[in-house]
Amino acid sequence: MAKFIVQKSGPLMGEVEISGSKNAVLPIMAATLLCEEECNIMDVPKLRDVDVMNQILMRIGAKVTDELEQENKLTIATPEIAATEPPYGLVSKMRASFVIMGPLLARAGRARIPLPGGCAIGARPIDLHLKGFAALGAKIVEGSGFVEAQADKLHGTTVYLDFPSVGATENIMMAAVMAEGTTTIENAAEEPEIVDLANFINKMGGRIKGAGTDTIKIEGVEKLHGCTHHVIPDRIETGTFMLAAAITRGNVLVKNALPDHVKPVIAKLRECGVSVEDTLEGLRVDATKGKFTSTDIKTMPYPGFPTDMQSIFMAFLTTVEGKSTVIETVFENRFMHVSELARMGANITTNDRSATIIGGQKLTGAQVVATDLRAGAALVLAGLVAENFTEVDEVYHIERGYEHFVDKFSALGANIVKESPDTNNYNKYGKPDEK
Ligand code: UD1
Repeated sequence: MAKFIVQKSGPLMGEVEISGSKNAVLPIMAATLLCEEECNIMDVPKLRDVDVMNQILMRIGAKVTDELEQENKLTIATPEIAATEPPYGLVSKMRASFVIMGPLLARAGRARIPLPGGCAIGARPIDLHLKGFAALGAKIVEGSGFVEAQADKLHGTTVYLDFPSVGATENIMMAAVMAEGTTTIENAAEEPEIVDLANFINKMGGRIKGAGTDTIKIEGVEKLHGCTHHVIPDRIETGTFMLAAAITRGNVLVKNALPDHVKPVIAKLRECGVSVEDTLEGLRVDATKGKFTSTDIKTMPYPGFPTDMQSIFMAFLTTVEGKSTVIETVFENRFMHVSELARMGANITTNDRSATIIGGQKLTGAQVVATDLRAGAALVLAGLVAENFTEVDEVYHIERGYEHFVDKFSALGANIVKESPDTNNYNKYGKPDEK
């Protein structure tokens, strides 16, 4: 397995450009299945998850032109749906692949999806997605290891989500786009990625109103057409670099960031004493001066504090004096980074969904494992301030969601080297091997 060797680094300095949002582009790619024509998607990050989604779409019949390397662009057209059952081998690589179910059901009247994989953060059920499809008139069959939905015609209805699930909101929205009549999703997720998806579908000729609020109305249309769309910047990558500046006591200009999308991260950093300035060029995070203090965090659906930033913020909290509390309300099993941070010397105790951090302990490099995407990023941040070297294993999780991770960090002065079993030309001190 590939690993990162992270060496204690000085304060990160300089500027970083944020890429397009992973969580916005994946459902947008799925939504291209809703029409026959070509869709141009711009500002797409070159990521492992995007590659997996491309492969899934191609198995369904999409023609994908991948210009990610050259200009972060994808062109996708699906003149015909060739298959309504994507293979388990691909779907199991990424939980987000389940969002192809809604568009497949809308376009082909049938979808049979193997039960999804992805980050191991909790049970992550799909009952709300299925509740929505059933309410629209689909017949649902849950078999061993797969779920199937079928409907000759979907009919607009009102769906109340028991929890504002991001994936369920997206899936139901896409299923309803060509249904007969109007669908209302109540207690819908309000995340910016939902708004971006709705904007994309509306450019295709869809009629969606209210995305970004808790009530979304989707008026069914006959047919959709191709369009061109620019994906929003990634708010979690934005937050990650803000925290990287904070934990290393650096000064970083985070460019192409949308401050409105990271309000809770800005607020919590300021509470801790970190200066965050919204400038014309981007978000300036300055932690070079001052005394930093603890704070309490509770993760919530948007616009609350994002669960995806919880582990990353916690890494920072281990470095400030005082006691902080972190409560995770979105996922039931999202403290897997705690034992790894503890291996590096952090003083953290957990009780169910609550973690108490006694900050200010000295961190020391250790061998740790990236158990999921954001946990991995948290460990790299901790490694930047820990004595000696930190080996972060299973970094494929990190590469699922961060574009040019090592390059971007290195440009700010971080000492990170990737070691792959196949390209193992660096020794553990980040120096080229003699042989
Ligand atoms: C998306 C994001 C992920 C983020 C999460 C919450 C993508 C690709 N991933 O994941 O990075 O951490 O939102 O902001 O966009 N739930 C149910 N039944 C369902 C669906 C969800 O009970 O049918 C529960 C989940 O178990 C979880 C909570 O709802 O406890 C939130 O999940 P959800 O919002 O659906 O997250 P994802 O869409 O999977």
